[in-house]
Amino acid sequence: MERQISLVKDEALAALRGAQTSAELEAIRVKYLGKKGELTLLLRGMGKVPPEERPRLGKLVNEARDELERALGEAGRKLAALEEEQRLERERVDITLPGRRPPMGHKHPLTLVLEEIKHVFRGMGFDVVQGPEVETDYYNFEALNVPKFHPARDMQDTFYITDDILLRTQTSPVQARVMEQRKPPIRIIAPGKVYRRDADVTHSPMFHQVEGLAVDKHITFGDLKGVLKVFAEELFGKDTGMRFRPSYFPFTEPSAEVDISCVMCHGEGCRVCSHSGWLEILGAGMVHPRVLEMAGYDPEEVGGFAFGMGIERIAMLKYGVDDIRLFFENDARFLTQF
Ligand code: FA5
Ligand code: MG
Repeated sequence: MERQISLVKDEALAALRGAQTSAELEAIRVKYLGKKGELTLLLRGMGKVPPEERPRLGKLVNEARDELERALGEAGRKLAALEEEQRLERERVDITLPGRRPPMGHKHPLTLVLEEIKHVFRGMGFDVVQGPEVETDYYNFEALNVPKFHPARDMQDTFYITDDILLRTQTSPVQARVMEQRKPPIRIIAPGKVYRRDADVTHSPMFHQVEGLAVDKHITFGDLKGVLKVFAEELFGKDTGMRFRPSYFPFTEPSAEVDISCVMCHGEGCRVCSHSGWLEILGAGMVHPRVLEMAGYDPEEVGGFAFGMGIERIAMLKYGVDDIRLFFENDARFLTQF
């Protein structure tokens, strides 16, 4: 019995020294000190030992148990400290690593171009105003010198809501609205959405225009040219060429369409400018006397110029985009390039 006690004890202590983890330690505790553990069973077996031997053997078993418990406790603390250290090492965070940036949204290319356009015209003293996208026939056409059944209505294929209400085909109705409400001098730009039955690589059924209007005494075509030249140079660079082509709009006289030298080929001729070296960006002219009259102004007293540009066209030129539909498809691969 005595031999057995010391054998079990030595075996337990040896196992303890080999233990690598807390789980192994626990297994050793159960094997020797648990309810059916080897030392526990030895202690229970005391009943079968001759009574005179009991005190001595009992003391031996108890001492062995105490020693084992002490050793277990000590090994447990050591292993716990070691495991804590390993855990910290494993979970170590390198705070010098660059962080992971969440993907950030940003402004749409059309918004960027519009902001630039507004900035340039504000710098020249123009107010930014807005008008409704759902417009009356009166402001979209009649107040702009386009009576009912006038052939000029065919220049823009219109979405009608009723006979008198439509989706505006141009931002020009804002001219009429502003002149009705204000007295000269007037200097405004009016950006916004317009709608036409129109769709190909350079035409979209919904697109954006920026209208410009200046009304005052002694306004000349030279003022129009000067303002548009500043605009083209600010947006496309100082060496951008500009030319005025005679054109027709019912609400301006004389009228012009304005081209800039092709920003892709710098006037050499390429696919984008149809090998002409020039690109149309806007329509413009001197406000028609009849439009001034309809607004209640005296055309002998005041005059004005107006222009209307397509923002998508300008964005296409600025960023080298060759299909207008890319602006509206919301493809992130396209949008993240700006
Ligand atoms: C007009 O809309 C006139 N209101 C412009 C104007 C204003 C003239 C003031 C005189 C005085 P036009 O239909 O040409 O004109 O359109 C002007 C510009 O809008 C064009 O030069 C082009 O850049 C753009 N544009 C026209 N149709 C479309 C379309 N379907 N998709 C994208 N851009 C277009
Ligand atoms: Mg045109």
